[in-house]
Parts: sequence; structure tokens; C-alpha cells
Amino acid sequence: MAIDAAASGGAGSSRRSESPPPAALSGYLAALGPLRDLVEDDSLTEIMVVGPDRVYVEREGRVHLTDVRFDNEAHLVGVIDLIVTAVGRELNRRHPICEARLLDGSRVAASIPPVALNGPLLTIRKFSRRRYDVGDLVAFGSITEEAAAYLQVAVLARANLIISGGAGSGKTTLLNALSRFIAEEERVVTIEDAAELKLHQEHVCSLESRSGDDDGTGRISIRDLVVHSLRMRPDRIIVGECRAGEALDMLQAMNTGHDGSLTTIHANSPRDCLARLETMVLMAGLDLPVRAIRQHIASAIDVLVHLSRLKDGPRRVVSVSEIVGMEGDIITMQDIFSMGRGTESAKQAAVTRLRPTGVRPQTLRRLEERGIPAPDALRRLFPVPRVVA
Ligand SMILES: Nc1ncnc2c1ncn2[C@@H]1O[C@H](COP(=O)(O)OP(=O)(O)O)[C@@H](O)[C@H]1O
Ligand SMILES: [Mg+2]
Repeated sequence: MAIDAAASGGAGSSRRSESPPPAALSGYLAALGPLRDLVEDDSLTEIMVVGPDRVYVEREGRVHLTDVRFDNEAHLVGVIDLIVTAVGRELNRRHPICEARLLDGSRVAASIPPVALNGPLLTIRKFSRRRYDVGDLVAFGSITEEAAAYLQVAVLARANLIISGGAGSGKTTLLNALSRFIAEEERVVTIEDAAELKLHQEHVCSLESRSGDDDGTGRISIRDLVVHSLRMRPDRIIVGECRAGEALDMLQAMNTGHDGSLTTIHANSPRDCLARLETMVLMAGLDLPVRAIRQHIASAIDVLVHLSRLKDGPRRVVSVSEIVGMEGDIITMQDIFSMGRGTESAKQAAVTRLRPTGVRPQTLRRLEERGIPAPDALRRLFPVPRVVA
């Protein structure tokens, strides 16, 4: 099944220019001292320093202790200090924790005594330079071609779509890959905590939340940005990760004509994702009855994709479901692709393929209603049921 060539083409470079001036970056890299090689190693996703003698890294989901060492605690504190001051932050006894984004786009969390008990702690979540496109994800076996074609249709049909899964299961990567299917003429607003998405379209407005100054002022939350984005005439709103009260504003936007919104949610299963969404709406602080919240969710969300990262194994899409409505107080979902029965265990899921369940997706009808013909292969996969007179 062919996916649109433009959409599955190589992960080219973004048109956005966001690199810091080379001088600033080389100064910063030099300031990293013993961590420099690790920061420049693209195969690492995380660098974790626990005091001067222990530096751990994560590679392909596994944590290893390296032989990188600092001379002593003062050396480590000096490096942390250079890293945080380079981005205009401070770290000292009065402000012993700091979260910031580094010049190369990585995210850093640093803490020192008195809050850090076993020496200064530094965690760098590397900014992944490599963007996978849908073709890559198919090649890795993370998703089947059929399911990828279905998701392309879902994006084209402007379905409201949620990608759920555990930490590091590949949610943001899939979201970024799917964003390629958005038409070039659409105006897209992206909202993130730390800008990770790289859209290929020209007309993209990227917003990033702000944790605020040390005195607590100047905080701009994801929720503030979602509300703000509604005044920006967006064709689509993409929220990098939905964690709290912004869920309510997103659902409201989805239910009031802002179709085609995309987001990710940290959850252990599709059902868990719906439960979390409910909790997040409650976090918005409005006293809404649970049934009303569920109705809101059921009418706003169209498609739920769930990812799983198998132990030491690949990251996989394990189900693609459509939300069909409510039965009593329960939101009803229908799997369009699933691993089938008996694949609940991670071991099974590692070898089983995602298969179409045979249920004809509502999304196909939606696409046809928009006057866009569904791809032949999907029509063959999901034939229109014959009506028996
Ligand atoms: N399908 C995949 N196959 C291999 N590596 C992947 C895949 N999806 C994501 N990754 C890598 O896994 C890491 C975490 O991915 P990310 O999309 O940020 O996860 P999440 O958003 O779920 O926390 C990144 O380094 C990313 O490049
Ligand atoms: Mg993510």
C-alpha cells in the first residue's frame, strides 16, 4: 500500500532556522567539559549525572554507567553552572533546582545541595536530531503500512487524534511523522513545553510554554497557550503533550469546529488514556459532572492510537481505535487495527503484527464526505458492507 510519496520522503531538514549562533554553541560545547562527547553522541537519548563519579547514559532504552568522571564535586558544580548561566538561569543555595532548555535544544534538569542529597544531579534529555518519517516507522516494524495509510486518511479527514503510550514509547515521534500529512495550505499552531516538533509546512506558528521567573511570575502554561491559539485563526492545533487542565480547552476547541487537532497523552492503555483525559478535565477546576465530561470526550475525540515500548524491544503501535459514542455512562471504542487476542503479554506483542479487525472505519466515510476519495487499498481492506434488503 503506497503512502503518498511526498509524505513518506526522507526526513529532510526543517525550514525553520532555530540554531543558535555558532560562537555561542561552540562556547557552550566547550563548557560541557567531560560531558561534551556524550552530548555530541547522537545515539544517546539521556545523560544522567549523579555526583562527580557516576555518569549514566541511555542508549536504545537501556541505561549504562560510563567511565566519564569529574575531578571532584566543585568541577561538576562548575560545569552545571556554566550550562545554566549560558541560558540565563541561576543555580545556588537559594535556587537549588533549575530546569532549562539548552542551546542545542536539549532539556536539562539540575539540582544541587541542600535539595540534592548525594551530590549535584544533572539530567540532560537529548534533543533528538533525527526525525523519523512514517516510511521509517514502517521500515522499523513500528507500524504496518495499512495502519499508516489509515492514519494518513485520519489526518486528511481532519479527525481529532490522540496518540497515547508510556514515556519514551515514541508518541512525539509518531505525532511529528503524522504532521507531514497536513496540507501545505493549512495554518498550524503547535503548542509545547519544550519545542520538539519539527513540521515541514511553511505556515506554522510554534508556541512554547514558559516556567516563569524564580519569583514565580511570568509563567505561561500550555493551557494559556491553547486559549491564546484559539484567537489565532488556526486550521489545526497541535499540543505536543496534554498533561493537565488544557485538556478541557482542547476538547472544547475540538467540539467547536477546530477539527484535525492532534496531541499525545501519557497512558498505559487506550482505556487508561480516556480515564486520564477525564482526570485532566477535572484539573481545569470546573465542577463538571463525570457523565458530561465523558460525553465531551466522546464527541470530541475521533481516533486513539496506542503505542507500547516493549522491554528491550522495539516501539510499536499496538492499537488504533475509533471513539464511537457512549453506552450508558461508558465511552465506546472500536478497534480498527489491533494485535488480536492473546497478545496482552509484551512477549507476544513483540512478534505479533497489527491487523485490521474488519470494522469499517468511520474515518473513511468522513473522508468521502469531504469529497476526498479513499485510497484504493484502504477501500479494499474495508469494503462497504452490502445492505441486505
Ligand atoms: N518507532 C521508533 N523506533 C525507534 N526509535 C524510536 C521510535 N519512535 C521513537 N524513537 C526514539 O525514541 C525516543 C523517544 O521517542 P519520543 O517520540 O520522544 O517518545 P515519547 O514522546 O513517547 O516520550 C527518541 O529518541 C526517538 O528518536
Ligand atoms: Mg513526547
